[in-house]
Amino acid sequence: MVYSMRLTAATWPEVEAYLKTKNALILPTGSVEQHGPIGLIGTDYMTAQAVAERVGEILQVYAAPPVCYGMASHHLGFPGSASVRPSVYQAYLCELFRSFYGHGFRRFYVVNGHGGNKHSLNAVFQELKHEGCAGASFNLFNWWVLPEVEALAKELYGDREGHHGTPSEVSLTFHLEGIDSREGQFSCEPLKSPWPLSGAEFRKLSATGLMSSDPALARREHGKRFLEVAAASIVGQVQRLPVLA
Ligand code: NI
Repeated sequence: MVYSMRLTAATWPEVEAYLKTKNALILPTGSVEQHGPIGLIGTDYMTAQAVAERVGEILQVYAAPPVCYGMASHHLGFPGSASVRPSVYQAYLCELFRSFYGHGFRRFYVVNGHGGNKHSLNAVFQELKHEGCAGASFNLFNWWVLPEVEALAKELYGDREGHHGTPSEVSLTFHLEGIDSREGQFSCEPLKSPWPLSGAEFRKLSATGLMSSDPALARREHGKRFLEVAAASIVGQVQRLPVLA
């Protein structure tokens, strides 16, 4: 699959020319963390990157490479998971936005694939606007809770979608990686507890690492649908946004 609007596949003169007529940049954010017994550890950044690049292709806007690692301390009880503490994650993201802002990017569309990043991302936007960043606008799109995506998940999985290692996100990774499906038996029991949790606490409450989801329902062909539905939803919202600069 070839995407024409990958920032990493552009040259600096191309970016300089782009900035003469456009100032938007899409940034995918995700996480590297366990996604249950059959979900991939890269799920959150892989899905965010795919949606971001599809939006970039449709809007002809550059999509930056993903910030793969995120705030995932509650998953550290499962091997292969990695986390960045909120203060470090926020400082790191601020530096990236300052870099792009310095070159003239103003409209930032963050396509996020991980719930644990949400609060930090909003804190980063506030931090940057506190500094000024005149003309900059920040919009956060948590792709898995877009209304059209939630409707499709409801149609396909009913109340077995759950909240982590969900069949919708697992389907999207199966589409990207060419996996048809994987077998498993999952109970979808509700996870009731205070939040946030440490890695050890979460593992104690969820032996599989899942949160009320049944990823055995994931199918490769569903993944393509989620990708297109999420991208179309974000494109529609972006086209209705007020313009600051
Ligand atoms: Ni996820």
